[in-house]
Amino acid sequence: MPTSLNTATGEQWLLLQERLADISAKYPDAVFASSLGVEDMLLAHAIFTAGLPIEVFTLDTGRLHDQTLSLVARIQACYGVTVNMVQPDAAAVKRHVDEYGAFAFYESTDLRKACCNLRKVEPLRRALQGRSAWLTGQRREQSMTRVDLAETEFDRIFGLQKFNPLTNWTLKQVWDVVHAWKIPYNPLHDQGYPSIGCEPCTRAIRPNEDIRAGRWWWEQKLSRECGLHVSRSGPQIERS
Ligand code: ADX
Ligand code: SF4
Repeated sequence: MPTSLNTATGEQWLLLQERLADISAKYPDAVFASSLGVEDMLLAHAIFTAGLPIEVFTLDTGRLHDQTLSLVARIQACYGVTVNMVQPDAAAVKRHVDEYGAFAFYESTDLRKACCNLRKVEPLRRALQGRSAWLTGQRREQSMTRVDLAETEFDRIFGLQKFNPLTNWTLKQVWDVVHAWKIPYNPLHDQGYPSIGCEPCTRAIRPNEDIRAGRWWWEQKLSRECGLHVSRSGPQIERS
């Protein structure tokens, strides 16, 4: 354990490793959805260094920053792991762009959600098809829509168990671990981007702004989710 980690964060890191091993043993086909953001780089490090057989994929929307995409090669170089890049249906995206334009998401929440649906939600459905569990890097602290986030829940939208192993982690704890283990991360995080999605839908935040203020910033706060994490979840029933 690096000496730069305080005791509480060090213990949290050990608990995370145990939890991931437990999930992987109970759900051997579990898959990890990585946005390549800092929380997900921490989770990736925990999974890959333990050699857990949890596959990892990224929804490659076609609108991600180059800095985000370059992490895929860094993961391959650091851990020898290939991130499965899941693409949207090219014909459906073309139809949408031909009809509404390449920047229609700025025009209305409906058009923005239609784009997220094509580029994120439908590919996610495909990536989760036939799996019994998935993992995300969501944290409660991230947003007012996540304050009640459960560590595990049955995801009724996609029909499988869902794990959010970083539920109770603070952003400081995430960064303490990332720095302590020298985990690779997106350089945009050091340029005012605490939360990173697609390039045209993410901006840097000003000091003291909410950490998700740079995501779909032109919309009302409560509409700012893309449909990957809809809270129509069931009770906490997990395999024993
Ligand atoms: S979002 O719903 O607003 O886009 P956010 O960026 O906070 O989500 O990420 C929360 C979690 O959703 C990530 O930790 C990751 O598990 C998943 N996620 C978000 N974007 C992607 C992506 N492009 N590919 C794979 N998983 C993603
Ligand atoms: Fe489209 Fe923006 Fe959603 Fe990315 S975040 S899928 S570009 S609307």
